Amino acid sequence: MAINPIRAFYLASRGTKNFLLKRPFCVSFEITYSCNAKCKHCHLGGIVKDEEQASPEQFGIRAEELKPVVAQISGGEPLLRRDLEQIIKVIKKPQKPPFIVLTTNASLLTKEKYTSLREAGVDEFSVSLDYPDERHDEFRGIPGLFKRIETLCTSLRAIKDKCITLSCVVQSQNYKDVIALAEKAREWEVKMNFSAYTMLRTAKKEYMISEDEMPEFKQTIRRLIEFKRKYKTVFTSEYVFKHMIKFFENHETPNCRAGERFLVVNPDGTLSPCGLIIKKYQSQREIKEDFLKSNTCNYCFTSIRANSEKPAKYLIKDNLQNI
Ligand SMILES: C[S@@+](CC[C@H](N)C(=O)[O-])C[C@H]1O[C@@H](n2cnc3c(N)ncnc32)[C@H](O)[C@@H]1O
Repeated sequence: MAINPIRAFYLASRGTKNFLLKRPFCVSFEITYSCNAKCKHCHLGGIVKDEEQASPEQFGIRAEELKPVVAQISGGEPLLRRDLEQIIKVIKKPQKPPFIVLTTNASLLTKEKYTSLREAGVDEFSVSLDYPDERHDEFRGIPGLFKRIETLCTSLRAIKDKCITLSCVVQSQNYKDVIALAEKAREWEVKMNFSAYTMLRTAKKEYMISEDEMPEFKQTIRRLIEFKRKYKTVFTSEYVFKHMIKFFENHETPNCRAGERFLVVNPDGTLSPCGLIIKKYQSQREIKEDFLKSNTCNYCFTSIRANSEKPAKYLIKDNLQNI
């Protein structure tokens, strides 16, 4: 979405402060671990009974205290929470940060729900889409999901500045489809983002891109970058694509800064350094004192990490491109 200059100024000044003060750029509010999908690459799925859930106000206090530039509302499937609009409303500060991104599988996202969530304060919807056709239904365990996403995007055609970015987790079985995915997004007049698969959730090695597949993968990414330059509908930056290739070559990206540049608020309001290492910290200071000193995990290059850990030059350059 286009950001107005006043908001862009506030977001940039918070970004600068957070960079200097080692506060997180992105906080992911994982407001429930319940999920209505059974994704092949994810360990979550099914309803968590008697889950301890923080109230909208408690999430609001966390947002005030952590002061992120970007607040990602995620899970689990965040649309399963009936008080989702209320959570968004307490985190939202008109004209000011955070920029609010709702990450969803979109199975429950109708045109009406899109409108009510926009009114509550969502700035961007990150809609998961891993295949440019019905293979997505099979991968996510939700029949008819691809068609539903297509219907949602096309039903919003009249809205010029649609706030939807489709988000694909790139892995061995869909990397040949990334251009087709970018074309689909362009046809539906929405943006396209790419994130790298990590084994940390399910330990499934078969989704990592193998050494034999690397030449074709690199060629595909080169074509994707050309597509990005030509149409400007791909959100993922060239910096991120370059490091995604390195991640699949080496199976790691050094110097993880989870807990510093980004962190997670758990469903009960406690904090984790990331969504793949669940802890119950009470404050970012506790994360710094305990987790940061001993963290040796480097085994992901998901979007939240890729976009939060960029050197300052790319943080500025990539964000200017996306305004
Ligand atoms: C856990 S989901 C929660 C939000 C929502 N239910 C959804 O499907 O978008 C958040 C993001 O993590 C991604 N994800 C799940 N498993 C992953 C994995 N093994 N590696 C990288 N990303 C993964 C999903 O594709 C999704 O984009």
